[in-house]
Amino acid sequence: MKILVLGGTLFVGRHVVEAALDRGHEVTLFNRGRTDPSLFPGVEAIRGDREAGDLAALSGRRWDAVVDTSGRVPRWVGDAARLLVGAVEHYTFVSSISVYADTSRPGTDESAPVHTLADETVEEISSPEVYGALQVLCERAAETALPGRVLSVRAGLVVGPYDPTGRFTYWVHRIARGGEVLAPEPRAQPVQFIHGRDLADWMLDMAERRAAGVFNATGPARPLTMEGLLESIQAAAGSDATLRWTDERFLLEHGVEEWSDLPLWLAPGTNAESASFMAVDIRKALGAGLRFRPLAETIRETLHEAETTPEAGLDPGRERELLRA
Ligand SMILES: NC(=O)c1ccc[n+]([C@@H]2O[C@H](COP(=O)([O-])OP(=O)(O)OC[C@H]3O[C@@H](n4cnc5c(N)ncnc54)[C@H](OP(=O)(O)O)[C@@H]3O)[C@@H](O)[C@H]2O)c1
Repeated sequence: MKILVLGGTLFVGRHVVEAALDRGHEVTLFNRGRTDPSLFPGVEAIRGDREAGDLAALSGRRWDAVVDTSGRVPRWVGDAARLLVGAVEHYTFVSSISVYADTSRPGTDESAPVHTLADETVEEISSPEVYGALQVLCERAAETALPGRVLSVRAGLVVGPYDPTGRFTYWVHRIARGGEVLAPEPRAQPVQFIHGRDLADWMLDMAERRAAGVFNATGPARPLTMEGLLESIQAAAGSDATLRWTDERFLLEHGVEEWSDLPLWLAPGTNAESASFMAVDIRKALGAGLRFRPLAETIRETLHEAETTPEAGLDPGRERELLRA
């Protein structure tokens, strides 16, 4: 297949390009040439800036499918989708589970209400809600241009190698380091995430058979809790770490921020409105062939291939202070 990847050089797109090349597809990249331009030598790269609407270099070409991993606002997606109407058979847009307006209860499926914007021309991503609303508008912009030919993939937290956010990576590297690890209660909080390679593989499977529609895409296949995840990391990393499970209220009172200081933690007892953000319904994608590598493999690849980022998680000094307290 000839595949055009809009983006392709940071994280999700990078996995798509690697997976497509592994399958023997012919890949063309479209981006500004700023992020890691030497990443895929020998792969055709077309340059343009979506912000400036500069897509002229895509005119007059043909691909079987396009995978859009860089569409931030509906104008970008609408411009690309309209230009590519006669040039591609299938358009995959990588969206997010952040589209959902209410994740207070488990089981949010693709028909659930989504965030909206009073002014749909807004392009500044000023909050998670605006991000979610813009992602839905991006999905719709693609669908309007190419009705029945768009796959919108509402991805959950994407993890593994190349993850620039380091959120899942924090837990894997922290537990592998050993010692006393500050672990957030409730232990039973559901967690969901997907390895970038599993996501890329499934999106390519879908593009290869021109499958369209809107799908939640996250995992694992069976429900997992925070406790199950952290214990799986201990086991897969062969770590002697001790998990110090700590009360949600204590953590919040000591200024520990959910999601950023302790990644994947939602402080669900306090933030009831997002308590089930990582408990969305993935049955539609499972029915369409979404599969996951074993969790232990995702953990080991994250340990050996993913870089930690200083912004993600607690720094060791602060964690020690909290443990002492
Ligand atoms: N991380 C998660 O957990 C998560 C979860 C759900 C959904 N998502 C979604 O996944 C998507 C993929 O993210 P990614 O960053 O990993 O994808 P990526 O395709 O690997 O990287 C972003 C690409 O966009 C290009 N780009 C940026 N600005 C551009 C512009 N103005 N014009 C043309 N190209 C531009 C960059 O190259 P240049 O800089 O060279 O232009 C780069 O190649 C995002 O839309 C995100 O919302 C992520």
